[in-house]
Amino acid sequence: ELGRFAHYMRKEIHEQPDTVRDACRGRLRPAEATAQFGGLNLPPSRLRRIRRIVFAACGTSWHAALVGEYLIERLANLPVEVEYASEFRYRNAPLDDRTLVFVLSQSGETADTLGALREARRRGFPTLAICNVVGSTIAREADGGIYLHAGPEVGVASTKAFSAQVTVLTLLALHLGRLRQLSFPAGLDVLRAIESVPELLSRVLDREPEVIAAAERMAEARSALFLGRDLHYPVALEGALKLKEISYLHAEGYPTAEMKHGPIALIDPETPSVFVAPRGSLHAKTLGNIEEVRARRGPIVAVGTEGDDELARLADHVLTIPDAPEVIQPLLAVVPLQLLAYHVARLRGCDIDKPRNLAKSVTVE
Ligand code: M6R
Repeated sequence: ELGRFAHYMRKEIHEQPDTVRDACRGRLRPAEATAQFGGLNLPPSRLRRIRRIVFAACGTSWHAALVGEYLIERLANLPVEVEYASEFRYRNAPLDDRTLVFVLSQSGETADTLGALREARRRGFPTLAICNVVGSTIAREADGGIYLHAGPEVGVASTKAFSAQVTVLTLLALHLGRLRQLSFPAGLDVLRAIESVPELLSRVLDREPEVIAAAERMAEARSALFLGRDLHYPVALEGALKLKEISYLHAEGYPTAEMKHGPIALIDPETPSVFVAPRGSLHAKTLGNIEEVRARRGPIVAVGTEGDDELARLADHVLTIPDAPEVIQPLLAVVPLQLLAYHVARLRGCDIDKPRNLAKSVTVE
């Protein structure tokens, strides 16, 4: 079943062009420049009345939800809050009937996420699920939702489920945007961008040798910083989680510009910084932040856009992704970070598919 791969994690990373294709299947409506879901069980009139969205999730699913927040704000101009399910379930989070609650879970069995779903439903709020495992407890108990169609994810480190979640959330942002202020041409641009992702992801995967070179440099480190801003902040968090989870190397994710408010004190020649820095609206500012790390002789790995010579001049290693519209960049930029964690863990001799102290789904509080 593993075929040419030594581990499920790497197999699942390489499946991601298909994962994104499968998450989009049957959901794109180019004639109306929108996306559509069969299982939301909410009429457009009800969805248009929504004034706020709350996402509750854990771990990687929480990071995907954070990408969703940025996308929904951009495309649909709706306020979104992303909650740790473990916090949400015991708080008295203000909800009203114009708030839509979603839980996100790959497995559909995470105890804290199930607790959040039950608490929201107990209070009488219809709650939707974004879930991978069909027929799982969360999928059964939710009032409706969206399946990821990512197929079984075996590696404890979640990879393809993240990509499927972000794909579905991009489609949801498009759908909500088109019910509000997003014009037909702007919607069509988003739709075309999503359609291009599988092909672009294949090109990202072809650059794995660049990642291996960077992993060789990072494998000896004791700690690493992951930095990204805007849509790439959640990607940085996810890169840090992947690395600590399977390589046991300490890593922290931060919004890039927060670095100067404390974490910059950690920078030294032994502490690599991994910047998620594709070309985009805030790129010049990110380059400035990278200069600050370089001035302190910190090793720099950067996920960057093909042909970005300025970035190549500043970074010790560039993990290249193709030029692409900003809304799909998280889907491309996360892949080199998944591979980076994989190769660092491999070089450190770690048990990649079964990292210590972790289970595939966390069914206890
Ligand atoms: O199955 P879920 O998406 O509910 O799982 C949530 C987290 O336990 C999970 O994402 C965990 O953080 C992964 N091991 C991350 O790779």
